[in-house]
Amino acid sequence: MSKRDFLSLLDFSKAELGSLIERAKTFREMHARGDVYQPLVGRTAAVIMQLSSTRTRLAFEAGLAQLGAHAVFLSTKDSQMGRGEPIEDLARVLSEMVDIVMIRTLEQSDMQTLADYASIPVINAMSSLLHPCQLLADVQTFEELRGSIKGKRVAFLGDGYNMCHSYINASTQWDFELRIACPDAHQPNADILANGHNAQRVETASEAVADADLVVTDVWSSMGHEGQEAQRREIFEPYQVNEALLDQAKSDVLFMHCLPAHRGEEISSTLLDDPRSVVWQEAGNRLHSQKALVEFLLLGHNGATPTLS
Ligand code: CP
Repeated sequence: MSKRDFLSLLDFSKAELGSLIERAKTFREMHARGDVYQPLVGRTAAVIMQLSSTRTRLAFEAGLAQLGAHAVFLSTKDSQMGRGEPIEDLARVLSEMVDIVMIRTLEQSDMQTLADYASIPVINAMSSLLHPCQLLADVQTFEELRGSIKGKRVAFLGDGYNMCHSYINASTQWDFELRIACPDAHQPNADILANGHNAQRVETASEAVADADLVVTDVWSSMGHEGQEAQRREIFEPYQVNEALLDQAKSDVLFMHCLPAHRGEEISSTLLDDPRSVVWQEAGNRLHSQKALVEFLLLGHNGATPTLS
């Protein structure tokens, strides 16, 4: 089997993504039952975080342990990456020692170089361009609570950055309608938007959330925007998601946020406690969906009947 990478949702077919979500739901049920399923005993993964992470790192490291694999964490600060070792060389060394690599790095092009030079699967653990792992958890969560996301209306409010880009890709892959409300100076990447079959920009937050089944936002100053916080708060203020805005969506609307959230900025201070918010289930599903992804990339299948030990 030739190796596959997961740098973007567009790297997988619609059928593969659908199958991953079903597998992630099964992993969630198995976790709740306390099932032990360890098909990856003897395998090793490198979890490389050049930027801070709580959920993504935890989901990979806990998930790999639950699958029987071992995870080695590498940061820029404590490895030769911080001293300028070329990514091409890193890719070759990783390929000699481990079975799979997850990397969070600002530049998508660095991730692509790693994948081009590695003979093992590379997973995008977030770049400034895309955050595809988060979308697996978001779609899983929506489908667990509301059924198929196909044909549903989703609103993304705020910064046209990595989460927005992955929502555009997701709207193509899962066939849902995406309405994006963002400031003119913070529009999504024009190429990604142009290639999104089901995504459109709208003028106002109210237009975006009208009849929405799901409302999503992200922080106004992501990693890479350090020092712009005060200026951004002013620009993004009309795009805050609060209870009154959610009232304009469908009565059974769900609210998601990839976290960490800044209460009082992109969301009202009480929104995470609103019954329409499903952010904790969404965060928990990072674990199950990333396990499904790793299983697929290493074993070449998902949806297999697990062998319990
Ligand atoms: N949502 C997300 O990627 O969280 P972390 O930055 O904590 O990994």
